[in-house]
Amino acid sequence: MKQLALLLGLVILGCRPASNEQASVSVPSGAEANQALSVQERRLLVAATIALPPAGLTPDSLPDPTQPGARMLAQYCVQCHALPSPAMHGAVDWPSVARRMWARIDKMRGDLGIATPSMAERSQLLNYLTSHALRVPENLPAGAGRAQFEETCSRCHVLPDPRIHSAPDWPVVVMRMERNMERMKVSGVTPEVAQRILGYLQMASAAPR
Ligand code: HEC
Ligand code: HEC
Repeated sequence: MKQLALLLGLVILGCRPASNEQASVSVPSGAEANQALSVQERRLLVAATIALPPAGLTPDSLPDPTQPGARMLAQYCVQCHALPSPAMHGAVDWPSVARRMWARIDKMRGDLGIATPSMAERSQLLNYLTSHALRVPENLPAGAGRAQFEETCSRCHVLPDPRIHSAPDWPVVVMRMERNMERMKVSGVTPEVAQRILGYLQMASAAPR
C-alpha cells in the first residue's frame, strides 16, 4: 500500500500542471485517490505496477549480502517497489533496466525524499547486479518440452541455464516461477505445460554437453 501511495504521488506530481492544486496537496489514498485521478492516470498507475519485482526477498537473502553493492541495492532499490533480486535478469539486460531506474531517480531528485546514488555507487550497483545475474545456457539439448521452456521461461528474463539447479531442486524453483507469474500479472501456464517444462529442465540439468 505504501508503494501504491508513492506511485500515486509519482503520477500526480508528474502529470498535473503546476498550476493545478492537486500538485501541491499531499498524496491521497484509497477511494479519495481514485476520485482525484483521471482514467488516463489510473491506466498509467495500473500499467506501472505490472511486472514489478515481486515482494518477499529480504536483504540478508541476497547473494554476498555484505558486499557494498548488496547494501546499496537494499538501500536505493526499495524506495518505489520490493527488493529486486540480481537473478531477476541476465547480465545483458541489467544495464538497460538500471538506465530506466536512474532516469526515474534523477527526475525525482528531492521529490518525496528519494535518495540518489552517486555515479560511483551506480557503477558498483550495476557491477553487483551483473556479477550475480541469471546465468544463460551455452547450448540446450533437444528434448520434449524444450519449446515450452523457451517460450515460457523467457517472458520476464533471459532464458535460464537448466544447469543452475539439479533435477531434485527444479520443482521448487518452477513452483516459485508460477507464483511469480501470478504476482507479476504475467500470463501463466497450465499444470500440464508446467510439468513438461519441469521434465525438460530435469533432463537438461543432467544431460552431457
Ligand atoms: C523512483 C522509483 C524507483 C526506484 C528508486 C527504483 N525503481 Fe525499479 N521500477 C520503478 C518503476 C516505476 C517500475 C515499473 C516500470 C518499469 O518497469 O520501468 C520499476 C520496475 C523495476 C523492475 C521490473 C521491470 C523489469 O524491467 O524487470 C526492476 C527489475 C527494477 N525496477 C529494478 C530496480 C533496481 C535494481 C533499482 C535500484 C537501482 C530500482 N529498480 C529502483 C521505479 C523505481
Ligand atoms: C512472471 C515473470 C517470470 C517468469 C515467466 C519466469 N520467471 Fe524466473 N524469475 C522471475 C523473478 C522475479 C526472479 C527473481 C526472484 C526469484 O528468484 O523468485 C526469477 C529468477 C529466476 C531464476 C534465478 C533464481 C534461482 O532460484 O535460481 C531462475 C533459475 C528462474 N527464474 C527460472 C525460471 C524458469 C525455469 C521459468 C519458466 C518456468 C521462469 N523462470 C519464468 C520471474 C519470472
